[in-house]
Amino acid sequence: MELIGPLSQLVTLQDLPLRGPISDNDLVVISNAGIAIKNGTIVAVDNWESLLTSFPNANIHALEGAYVAVPGYIDCHTHICFGGNRARDFALRNAGVSYLEIAQSGGGIWDTVTQTRKCTEQELTQIVIKNANKHLQLGVTTIEVKSGYGLSVEEELKMLRAINSGNNKTAADLVATCLAAHLKPKDFNGSNEAYLDYLVTNLFPVLQSENLTKRIDAFIETSAFSASEIAPYLQSAKELGFDITIHADQFTTGGSEVALQYGAISADHLEASEDKEIEALANSNTIAVALPGASVGLGCAFAPARKIIDKGGALAIASDWNPGSAPMGDLVCQASILATFEKLTTAEVLAGITFRAAAALNLFDRGRLIAGNKADFILYSTTDYRDILYYQGSLRPSKIWKSGKLVSA
Ligand code: NIG
Ligand code: FE
Repeated sequence: MELIGPLSQLVTLQDLPLRGPISDNDLVVISNAGIAIKNGTIVAVDNWESLLTSFPNANIHALEGAYVAVPGYIDCHTHICFGGNRARDFALRNAGVSYLEIAQSGGGIWDTVTQTRKCTEQELTQIVIKNANKHLQLGVTTIEVKSGYGLSVEEELKMLRAINSGNNKTAADLVATCLAAHLKPKDFNGSNEAYLDYLVTNLFPVLQSENLTKRIDAFIETSAFSASEIAPYLQSAKELGFDITIHADQFTTGGSEVALQYGAISADHLEASEDKEIEALANSNTIAVALPGASVGLGCAFAPARKIIDKGGALAIASDWNPGSAPMGDLVCQASILATFEKLTTAEVLAGITFRAAAALNLFDRGRLIAGNKADFILYSTTDYRDILYYQGSLRPSKIWKSGKLVSA
């Protein structure tokens, strides 16, 4: 048993709902707090003196100075396994060329596919580890990572194997997702339907036999796959027991409707969602994931986060960290920016990057500092938890615990 404290404040996020608005008054903030951990799990969070009394034989990790503790963040949507860089695209977009125009002229996602295919599995593993560790330093202790820059059976397997081996070599937990349905690759000789059918026949069985992922993602967009093209693919994924997540309503609507039709665990992007889509999402069990990093990266509207929450939806916030639309990779900065434009409470933002994001990954053992959860938490050198969003990402965590181990100090 180990006791960590005393902490000026500890934000538990206990008892907050998965769906709908949250007032900051509902946040449970324990002053002069401590955390008791054992075998990587939280045993108790409480007032520091009470913990010292309850666990007289525990090892004490005494903190000098003032700290605020919050749960380790969960980034439920990233593409951090990639080769190369797309600084050229960024410059072109800012000079007036659109994301879709760049994609149509051979840049965009296809450019990253070319760069990623040039990497060996070992090189990709190193890239994943480097990016995951960078994220971990910013307090992100669980990171979803998509494939989707391989776009052939062998290249997608290479990416997913790299993500899974990276998971064993970083302290962060990585959750792999197959995004082979990102785009039909230029070198595939056949229709969109034929490409998807080829994936179902040749890729899905290996994903299951090698246990590479439990999650299937698809990009539903006029430039990628249509609702009718993707239907048999998602049907097969569902029948095989995969969780489905969808890149939905990024530039045009249609994707979120498909997500709901297939009972997706999350529908992500939603920048183009209108009242009809917002209403349907809010009345479903699907988590709506806002990706403010893609809005900032592309100079587009934000997802209608306020409306989704007010209608009773479950809103998570993720970074979408990728080399094209969201190169920044700073979840707290992006979530703080979304908060100012969409008017989200501090509690809603913290929920969106912790337990609501965990639910989008089907993880219910993290995202709140409560007994029984994983001991994943981060400490900021401050006395007021509101400083975290106030500094819009520039206040960095000072100490980070992952599964009960101090991984950054
Ligand atoms: O989530 N929208 C599609 N896919 C990614 C972008 C990938 C890329 O541009 O490389 C996204 O924004
Ligand atoms: Fe994405």
